[in-house]
Amino acid sequence: MLTAGGDCPGLNAVIRAASRKLIAEGHHPVGLIAGYRGLAERNFVDLDRGQIRGILQLGGTIISTSSYNPYREPNGVELVKRAVDEEGFDAIIAIGGEHTMMMTRRLYVEEGIPTIGVPKTIDNDVTGTDFTFGFDTAVQVATDAIDRLHTTAASHNRIMVLEVMGRNSGWIALFSAIAGGADGVLIPELDISVEEMSEALTRRHESGANFSIIVVAEGANLAFASGETRQVLANETTDEYGYPRLGGIGAALAEELEQETGFETRVTVLGHVQRGGTPTAHDRLLATRYGIKAAELAINREYGNMAALRGTEVVSVPLSDVTGVKTVDLNYLQVARAFFG
Ligand code: F6P
Repeated sequence: MLTAGGDCPGLNAVIRAASRKLIAEGHHPVGLIAGYRGLAERNFVDLDRGQIRGILQLGGTIISTSSYNPYREPNGVELVKRAVDEEGFDAIIAIGGEHTMMMTRRLYVEEGIPTIGVPKTIDNDVTGTDFTFGFDTAVQVATDAIDRLHTTAASHNRIMVLEVMGRNSGWIALFSAIAGGADGVLIPELDISVEEMSEALTRRHESGANFSIIVVAEGANLAFASGETRQVLANETTDEYGYPRLGGIGAALAEELEQETGFETRVTVLGHVQRGGTPTAHDRLLATRYGIKAAELAINREYGNMAALRGTEVVSVPLSDVTGVKTVDLNYLQVARAFFG
């Protein structure tokens, strides 16, 4: 098995669960180091009982991760195919996000490599599953931050802007805004102009509130009543998938809100804190169920599939169900809005 893309809390819980199930059924799991690179370079470790002991609650991944894509490397696909054949691997369990799942499907369909997917990411933006593990932990970290911002905001009569991750989806922002009782939220899926948000904040402060908390997703647009919108980027570079590097919308929004409302404003950027540390009980449970499902798929030779959550059930879905970014369910915005203004 391998972990690819950005890490998230719960990866080790999947590794532990899948390994335990495979060992119990007489199989011999190994961990490929640093994603598909470990397969291409045949760099792997035994995942025996000793290796996987005590890792359930550990964040990160004990087998390291990378964004290595065999389709982008010279001879990458050939190296991966030969490794599977010559090492005698029965199945490759790839734990990753949207891009990893698509690559994993391609390796199955085009090269006949026996792959199985497990969806991970704090962003919860993988289609084909209701939730990814890692998301709940990120939401908890953001919610804790909102709780802390409340007490300091109230003491100074300020607007606090909290920038959270999520790439081009607003799942973390919207869920933490509801759970933390925020007074406004900005997500990539729906532009809200600075003027509209300022009006709501002014109304709130006129009706007696002496502080406000706004949660903004890193991928949200800065929008104006004039119709102008812009995405705020951390810098000019792109990430390994060619996406622009996000970050900075919090500061840009705070500045605009301060000008428009006249209220003193501060900004907090949570960054990678959301991705580190111990997974919540919810994520450990989901990751463990995914790990067991992935092992079952491998044992039954049901390749080309991914473990997924549908409602409360962990099921198997074809990897072809992963198509692009899963945007946030806007019904949650209605819930959040009941508390704004
Ligand atoms: O996809 C997970 C994520 O944490 C996003 O929320 C964020 O935009 C990105 O990864 C950050 O990537 P990196 O770790 O490369 O800075």
